[in-house]
Amino acid sequence: MKILVTGGAGFIGANFVHTTIEEKPDVEVVVLDKLTYAGNPASLAGLDRVTLVEGDIADMDTVDPLVKDADLVVHFAAESHNDNSLNDPSPFITTNIVGTFTLLEAVRRHGVRFHHISTDEVYGDLELDDPAKFTPTTPYHPSSPYSASKAGSDHLVRAWVRSFGVAATISNCSNNYGPYQHIEKFIPRTVTNLIDGVKPRLYGAGLNVRDWIHVRDHNTAVWAIIDRGTIGETYLIGADGEKNNLEVVQMILEEFGYDKSDFVHVNDRPGHDLRYAIDNTTLLELGWEPEFKDFASGLADTVQWYRDNEDWWRAQKAAVEAKYAQTGQ
Ligand code: NAD
Ligand code: DAU
Repeated sequence: MKILVTGGAGFIGANFVHTTIEEKPDVEVVVLDKLTYAGNPASLAGLDRVTLVEGDIADMDTVDPLVKDADLVVHFAAESHNDNSLNDPSPFITTNIVGTFTLLEAVRRHGVRFHHISTDEVYGDLELDDPAKFTPTTPYHPSSPYSASKAGSDHLVRAWVRSFGVAATISNCSNNYGPYQHIEKFIPRTVTNLIDGVKPRLYGAGLNVRDWIHVRDHNTAVWAIIDRGTIGETYLIGADGEKNNLEVVQMILEEFGYDKSDFVHVNDRPGHDLRYAIDNTTLLELGWEPEFKDFASGLADTVQWYRDNEDWWRAQKAAVEAKYAQTGQ
């Protein structure tokens, strides 16, 4: 079996390729990745049965022959960071919407199975004291240019399933953590700041809640959907990992042996979603279950990974922090 993994040099895509190579001996992987600031070929170093093609998912001349040659497309490629989408929404529209459209046209033409990776952010946010969680029938209500562009891409996938019979599934996952995550994101930014002796930055009061899942659990869930999911269905991926940002910063500070108050409050994110929470019932019905049930130990492993792999992230640290300084974050 030959699979095309878009965005396979990014955080979740690279972890997906690692899991696939470890667990699927009959699979060959072609990664299509534009190698933006978020893509790093070093995340795929040393893997057999993997070919990396540098190219843009919004370019049909690049996409078409790769799709034609594949049995399955797993589509991770995206502009993925909310803060960047607030500074410049343009690449989010081109990659997340036009890129997904381009892939859908190619899988339609060649009759190739498609799995679309999306986010729980398409549903907007929940109140902090609301017992509800997101389900596959929660109405779409995205808040940021990033989440709106992902919502648009999800709608395109559903339309291509219904109107053209494309064989696609969709998954909407909550916040991932683990190795190879870009240091612009909350957990790796906090960890690498502490490695550098800089206090973590907490947006606003730090009470916003995210539903954390280890990246490996996200990817085993994606394989469960590919192997056992129903075409046309949407599956929500989450592992009951709700924590507010203050709790997460304090857990990381503890891991470093620092005082729990050793962080600073910085400017809040405009339009900052309050809370995400996933009801994963339909996924559990596929027989999937998470491996990383203890967030504290998954977090400790992740902290250790950034300590052990400074070569992987160091070159980007100064530029990331200079960008945050412009918005007082
Ligand atoms: P990432 O930013 O770490 O990686 C994105 C990858 O896509 C990079 O390798 C980048 O070079 C590549 N890319 C960007 N534009 C491209 C283009 N035009 N053509 C080809 N490649 C391009 O992102 P991530 O955190 O790994 O997220 C992967 C997917 O998972 C995204 O679709 C995102 O919306 C979704 N998702 C992420 C999370 C999370 O917590 N990170 C949670 C749920 C869903
Ligand atoms: O819910 C899934 C989404 O999770 C994915 O679709 C996105 O691609 C992914 O980036 C992530 O979005 P968030 O905006 O939730 O992740 P981020 O790591 O940017 O921020 C997590 C929370 O931490 C959020 O409430 C903002 C806050 N934050 C972030 C940074 C970088 C801080 O308090 N301090 C920080 O330094």
